[in-house]
Amino acid sequence: MASLTVRQLDERLKKLLRLRAARNGRSVEDEVRTILREAADQVGTEVLENFTPPSVHSAAPSRRGVPGDAKRVLLIIGGGIAAYKSLDLIRRLKERGFYVRCILTKAAAHFVTPLAAGAITGERVFTDLFDPAHEFDVGHIRLARETDVIVVAPATADLMAKVAGGHADDLATTVLLATTAKVLLAPAMNPRMWSNKATQRNLAQLITDGFALVGPNEGEMAETGESGTGRMAEPLEIAAVVEKLFGRGQSLSGKRVLVTSGPTHEPIDPVRYIANRSSGKQGHAIAAAAAAAGAQVALISGPVNLPDPPGVTTIHVESAHDMLAATERALPVDVAIFAAAVADWRVANAGEHKIKKSKGQATPNLALVENPDILSTIAHRKSQRPMLVIGFAAETENVAANAKVKLASKGCDWILANDVSPQTGIMGGNMNTIELVTAKGVESWPPQSKDDVAVMLISRIADALLKEKP
Ligand code: CTP
Repeated sequence: MASLTVRQLDERLKKLLRLRAARNGRSVEDEVRTILREAADQVGTEVLENFTPPSVHSAAPSRRGVPGDAKRVLLIIGGGIAAYKSLDLIRRLKERGFYVRCILTKAAAHFVTPLAAGAITGERVFTDLFDPAHEFDVGHIRLARETDVIVVAPATADLMAKVAGGHADDLATTVLLATTAKVLLAPAMNPRMWSNKATQRNLAQLITDGFALVGPNEGEMAETGESGTGRMAEPLEIAAVVEKLFGRGQSLSGKRVLVTSGPTHEPIDPVRYIANRSSGKQGHAIAAAAAAAGAQVALISGPVNLPDPPGVTTIHVESAHDMLAATERALPVDVAIFAAAVADWRVANAGEHKIKKSKGQATPNLALVENPDILSTIAHRKSQRPMLVIGFAAETENVAANAKVKLASKGCDWILANDVSPQTGIMGGNMNTIELVTAKGVESWPPQSKDDVAVMLISRIADALLKEKP
């Protein structure tokens, strides 16, 4: 503390002090002490109680900068190709009201930058154990303490090995060793590394030590030609597990949801078919979001190039007929969402054998017959009609007006209308712009990713079921 003597004060102040001391019968020094004491009392005890010294050993974990009673997630991003998905995970956690801070391992910084993670969290990203600036402000012990849960995504084989062995040679491992918070690991690695005895031994140790686990999932790996178990769980799936750790977020828990997705293939003969450009991305995202919200989900999927969403029962079909049959078998459900781009027509007499061309012969005349309308069939059912029947309307003009007509003719409760003209890039792309058409009117949603459309739809469904009047 700086030392201050009465002699250093200016003349006017000294005179006033002397007068005041004489009036109160105290020495000048005592008078100064009394004034300081009174001033400190005025500031009050509140300041003292709320003050947390910037020490790494502070007794009570601080919530400074954390909005309201938001739960705090410390996301440790390990060095794997799946790290790019962790940026999306930050967004998923934040949209669920979590306060997120990030640690990037050195290897992770090869895949994502601290700048990117910092821009999405809106917080400083921590990378170094021996950064004097960070150590003064938020040391590793405080990072370990000032969080409600730690998520390690991707948890690489190396990171898992270090944590299982109790190593602490960088910020991430030191925080993991120092924390008492629950830790959720989202492993991601090459399938052979995952099945390696050493990794499995480390995994068993980590589970014994009380670490929670999400994934890894089965499917295509980032490396060409590699597939198996080792894909990091999807961000929505990880966010759902984090919510579960806090005992919330299961807005569709106990509900049965059916989703149709993708195109259908209508055979011309055993090797040829009629199809459309649907990718299945929107339907699959909806199925994943419903599962993440705790629903029991049946996904009836046409032929797509997408992995089956985790936690979802996926039934693969080819034609509209098969899709209708599988849909009916999946009843009863609480909610049915028809996102598939079902072929409207099929070939009347699909050849049993490959149609051959021979010189001079006329080109085949493909007679078409109408396919069953799956959405309309289910929406008009007398028995086992789902409480909420939702269709899509793929339009290229007069989007809302055409969707309103479809809402009435198909007998569904909601229609998500979208403009699928080639210039919108919606068919097959990752973005979507929805107009939600209900009996109450039309609501325009902002352009957003298909994943975000899915999350928004699921939250609207949960609200509607809560009110029990779709
Ligand atoms: N649909 C269905 N079965 C069909 C055709 C469509 O279940 N045979 C569903 C779609 O899954 C979507 C909705 O009906 O939820 C509207 O599909 P869309 O292709 O927009 O309209 P169509 O009914 O095919 O009418 P049109 O092609 O004339 O626009």
